[in-house]
Amino acid sequence: MQKRKIVVAVTGASGAVYAKLLLDSLAKLSTQIEKVGVVMSDNAKEVWQYELGNKDYEHYPFDFYAKTDFNAPFASGSAKYDTMIIAPCSMGTLGRIAHGISNDLISRAADVILKERRKLIAVVRDTPFSLIHLQNMKLVTEAGGIICPANPSFYSLPKTIEEVAQTVVDRVVDLAGLEKESYRWND
Ligand SMILES: Cc1cc2nc3c(=O)[nH]c(=O)nc-3n(C[C@H](O)[C@H](O)[C@H](O)COP(=O)(O)O)c2cc1C
Repeated sequence: MQKRKIVVAVTGASGAVYAKLLLDSLAKLSTQIEKVGVVMSDNAKEVWQYELGNKDYEHYPFDFYAKTDFNAPFASGSAKYDTMIIAPCSMGTLGRIAHGISNDLISRAADVILKERRKLIAVVRDTPFSLIHLQNMKLVTEAGGIICPANPSFYSLPKTIEEVAQTVVDRVVDLAGLEKESYRWND
């Protein structure tokens, strides 16, 4: 089976725990993954430090790229990264993607994924949504992206914040087509 090449973008929406749990999960799936490229916005780093109280994003065994680095391989379709996950995805980043404003590596990488008809998963986070947010989600969906809101489920009876957040991350991992053991209803 072809190993996967995945871009993870972390933006400045609330919910750094989603990024942490996603990176933790991908680190455990190395038999299925050839490369994970990570790009974080400035606010993503700030929100991570504020919400999680650390800078642990520096310690993952992945390829990290500055958000201004258009020399990153996944800034071009030729590098054949097959999937991009944005977790959490701010409304600002969603808007830039929806309107093709490729002025940083995150919006450019998403633009590339969509034009190449590959898989884009945006874990959008805000509440409530304005009509602008909803229209941007519609545009990204029409362009082939998957809007996977950061809406946890509770039917697995999670007990901790991490267990609650993991319910979202497990769906994201499923959507990315990776095999991972996780809670499955009535299975
Ligand atoms: C603590 C904190 C929480 C935030 N939560 C959200 C959020 O849930 N959703 C959102 O769209 N923006 C949120 N923002 C605002 C974004 O960080 C801001 O709009 C930023 O410019 C988004 O740019 P980025 O996508 O490049 O990170 C938050 C900002 C802070 C400081």
